[in-house]
Amino acid sequence: MVYPTEFCCLIIYFLTSQTSSIMSLKLGDTAPNFTAVTTAGEINLYDYLGDSWGLLFSHPADYTPVCTTELGRTAALKAEFDKRNVKVLALSVDSLESHNGWVNDINETQNATVNFPIIADESREVANLYGMIHPNASDTLTVRSVFIIDPDKKIKLTLTYPASTGRNFLEILRVIDSLQLTAHHSVATPADWKDGEDCVVSPSIPTEEIPAKFPKGFKLIKPYLRMTPQPNKD
Ligand code: BEZ
Repeated sequence: MVYPTEFCCLIIYFLTSQTSSIMSLKLGDTAPNFTAVTTAGEINLYDYLGDSWGLLFSHPADYTPVCTTELGRTAALKAEFDKRNVKVLALSVDSLESHNGWVNDINETQNATVNFPIIADESREVANLYGMIHPNASDTLTVRSVFIIDPDKKIKLTLTYPASTGRNFLEILRVIDSLQLTAHHSVATPADWKDGEDCVVSPSIPTEEIPAKFPKGFKLIKPYLRMTPQPNKD
């Protein structure tokens, strides 16, 4: 016999588990659009990105030490994001007033000028849309989520870090270099690859077709492991 309270709990469990699986964004999914209040005024994601790439990332809370260093580091790397045509957008569930006050602290302590918008997602609308709240980590705060979005608004990378670990923003730039390279050339990038280093010829290219496609040459290490100089570098 199932009692009314148990029945309600079952329904709630079913609905929340369905919602969280629907909201789990995967690589290749279209990044959901939204309009949100930010430190740079109201922003519509798609309008903000235009034809650019996007970096949407969340942090747990304002006025916290690791987040302060992360946002300062992102600001300091603005020229690198610009060079790659990447628009940056941060998010936490704190208020606009809190963000504006905290930005002064970031600028003061991190020798930076915060130069990208921070979403004030007090309603958690965007956080829920992007699955940035992981209830078993925290019921209320966003974790350190990262979404890289391509100009077609497809999600090309997701990363999730816990509150206690600050992200490596040079790694985020490195991944963007790989994503932008592999979007236009039939290569993949090996472990620890950095811009300018040799690449792996895509497994879909038969070895006999490599000379025509990769005029800089290639090295056959194994039939499935063919290396070539980075195609878009002189
Ligand atoms: C931090 O940014 O330092 C932080 C935020 C939330 C929990 C733990 C650390």
